[in-house]
Amino acid sequence: MQGSPEVARELFAPIAPNYERWARVLSLGQDARWRHRMIEASRLAEGSLVLDVAAGTGSITRLLEARGCRVVPVDQSPEMVSKLRNASLSPVIATAESLPFPDESFDGVTFGYLLRYVDDLPGCLGELTRVLRSGGSMGMVEFGLPTGLWRRAWDLYAGGILPLAGVVIGAGWGEVGRFLHSSIIEFGAMWEPETLENVWRDSGMTEVVSQAMSLGGGLVMWGRKT
Ligand SMILES: C[S@@+](CC[C@H](N)C(=O)[O-])C[C@H]1O[C@@H](n2cnc3c(N)ncnc32)[C@H](O)[C@@H]1O
Repeated sequence: MQGSPEVARELFAPIAPNYERWARVLSLGQDARWRHRMIEASRLAEGSLVLDVAAGTGSITRLLEARGCRVVPVDQSPEMVSKLRNASLSPVIATAESLPFPDESFDGVTFGYLLRYVDDLPGCLGELTRVLRSGGSMGMVEFGLPTGLWRRAWDLYAGGILPLAGVVIGAGWGEVGRFLHSSIIEFGAMWEPETLENVWRDSGMTEVVSQAMSLGGGLVMWGRKT
């Protein structure tokens, strides 16, 4: 199922109150590793001004702040942002496709689990790159699509166990569980890591590197603006 900003608004509003707890459980404790890797690879210096897009409840925002960055969290969901804790700068409600900031205003841009919800992926990457200063770092965390033997195990988990677990958890997680399996397959087929890397390059990024995490279940990408 293809996502869109509207799909995302409906999916995330009901799960905001317990998003972080269940995201950690349902990713089998792996999502924190992906975020840490992205932030480590982005090599943002202490004091950097970073835009964390699709910040949600602030998992990436808090890690960046722990490294001494000043972070502006942005998200389109008022419900998710209302649960954002400890951010030192006020969160901004906006869509990633139209960021209310001047060109080149940030030293870093990060985004986690955003691109499957945008209508125009290259256009959105262009917008994310626009607000990044020349030489600044960009980092992304996404779900990946395992291959080979692991793909079978992943299908069993994401296509069988995850939707069932979502129904048991309730409060909107059933929809998330049903959405994710086909969304990850469709997104992964359309935007293979190499294809996505090229979209980054076409948007003005250089030194673009991607790394599969957790047997392919996660994907981390980073680069620098030329
Ligand atoms: C899975 S959550 C990720 C939150 C956080 N980045 C993390 O790693 O835990 C995805 C977030 O993306 C936001 N989002 C989805 N589409 C968006 C868009 N087009 N513009 C801004 N935020 C968007 C949702 O509201 C949601 O908070």
